Amino acid sequence: MVVNFDEDFKFLIRKISKSSGIVLTGYRDSYLRRRIDLRMKAVGADNYATYKGLLERNQNEMKEVINALTVNVTEFMRDKTPFLFFRKEILPEIMERKNKSRSNIVRFWSAACSYGEEPYSIGICSREVLPEDWSVSIYATDIDEKCLKDASQGIYRKEQLKNLEPSIVRKYFEPFGESFKVRSIPKLSIRFQKHDLTSEAPISKYFDTVFCRNVMIYFNENQKIKMLTDFYNSLSDGGYLVIGKSETLPAEIRELFTPVSVKEKVFKKI
Ligand SMILES: C[S@@+](CC[C@H](N)C(=O)[O-])C[C@H]1O[C@@H](n2cnc3c(N)ncnc32)[C@H](O)[C@@H]1O
Repeated sequence: MVVNFDEDFKFLIRKISKSSGIVLTGYRDSYLRRRIDLRMKAVGADNYATYKGLLERNQNEMKEVINALTVNVTEFMRDKTPFLFFRKEILPEIMERKNKSRSNIVRFWSAACSYGEEPYSIGICSREVLPEDWSVSIYATDIDEKCLKDASQGIYRKEQLKNLEPSIVRKYFEPFGESFKVRSIPKLSIRFQKHDLTSEAPISKYFDTVFCRNVMIYFNENQKIKMLTDFYNSLSDGGYLVIGKSETLPAEIRELFTPVSVKEKVFKKI
């Protein structure tokens, strides 16, 4: 009998997609195999067919593999310099443009926001730079509902705030038991919402900047092109796109965005 490992793998992926509701066709094959292999090792399954059988019997393992597929690592001001660039270059330019059109409302999208550190970082930078009477509205989306629930609580342990200046911590967080809770910040609204970048229509709000950092690395080329085209359509004219430090724009997309900082991975809608 010839065993077709590829068919077993595809079958397994269809099973996980069906149970999780995550459309996995947009993810890189090598990424899916790597993450699933880790779970298979952990439970001692030595082929995809055995592991599929295990998933059918064991709901807990289904949760584990879905967890393994959504890597949630994040930090406040992750990589630091892109956020410095946001403060020093992007926000002042947006402010100048808004002044010309007599608007004082800015909108940002943190796509794949994980536990919320990224949208809160965007909010803090904005409040530090923009005038007090300007409204800042942030859409923060992720596919992982557990992340979104935690993010909306805004509670973080002290060590999670290590990238923030003590004065910023005092200004934007209040003690909450052993931890810290994000204070209610005037004129700043952050809306957490479930959104799947691979299968759902883009949130269309004329965003001034879309942050989508450290998720594109998991997607295949077609999915990247679809998602970046969606971002292009969600941005206002001259809006910015910020991607992860180790990510690049596919060649097919380069005519839509012009680089603003190659180092910080900041692009502008053409
Ligand atoms: C490594 S974290 C990045 C968090 C943050 N953007 C950062 O750079 O620190 C990747 C996030 O992407 C989310 N994610 C994975 N696939 C997704 C999808 N199809 N749609 C939306 N979010 C997704 C995961 O749930 C996870 O929270």
